[in-house]
Amino acid sequence: MAEADPAPSTLHVAIIMDGNGRWAAARNLPRTMGHRAGMEAVRRAIKAARELSVTHLTLYSFSSENWRRPVTEVNELMRLLRYYLRSELASLHKEGIRVRVIGERKKLPADIIDLITHTEELTQDNKELTLTLALSYGGRQEITAAARGLAKAVERGQLQADAIDEHVMQSFLFTGGMPDPDLVIRTSGEKRISNFLLWQSAYAEFVFLDVLWPDFEIAHMSEAIAEFKRRDRRYGATVGQA
Ligand code: FPP
Repeated sequence: MAEADPAPSTLHVAIIMDGNGRWAAARNLPRTMGHRAGMEAVRRAIKAARELSVTHLTLYSFSSENWRRPVTEVNELMRLLRYYLRSELASLHKEGIRVRVIGERKKLPADIIDLITHTEELTQDNKELTLTLALSYGGRQEITAAARGLAKAVERGQLQADAIDEHVMQSFLFTGGMPDPDLVIRTSGEKRISNFLLWQSAYAEFVFLDVLWPDFEIAHMSEAIAEFKRRDRRYGATVGQA
């Protein structure tokens, strides 16, 4: 009997895009200009992912905590997002990129929710790269929502409490069906996880880059992936066992 094809290998890079505000402050510009420059860096990151055979790229674009920023800044971020989804959709689709959004989307403006739904539906069969935008996203909020979902399924008699294992738990997360990140990059020199993919990054490698997000170039992604490949991933096993 012929052997089944091995699952195609995936490379999931997740990025905490940090430093837009500092980039703007260093130029005496308003913070919003930093976010605009950050959007250009998003385009470069996607190009880098395509060139470097990344199969999944997840970008922390707006955290659950970002709602606490001044309303003018939140509005500008929403405006940029709206602009980005509208202006890039055709080219993302043409390049075979599947777009997904994770986070508490009900909190987003209604027109952005509609744009997201349309974008996800249009691109759902694309295979070149899965681009996931984390929007109104927080890892703790995600795990809490999953716990609520599990409890409801048990309440309805659809699930036995004893049947809940890591696999079932995973399927209730926003990222259900997506591979865990292999590499998490954070820019701007800060070394924190900031509520990003808490469950999913259990075995991820972390690379912290001393570059502000608007200055992110393809070479930075390439450097981070090279560093990741030099690391010895053991998933808790001893040397040489993984
Ligand atoms: C962190 O920089 C960045 C954000 C809060 C938002 C990220 C948004 C973008 C890159 C632009 C829009 C994205 C898309 C997908 C269209 P910061 O403001 O916390 O910087 P600071 O730490 O220097 O103040």
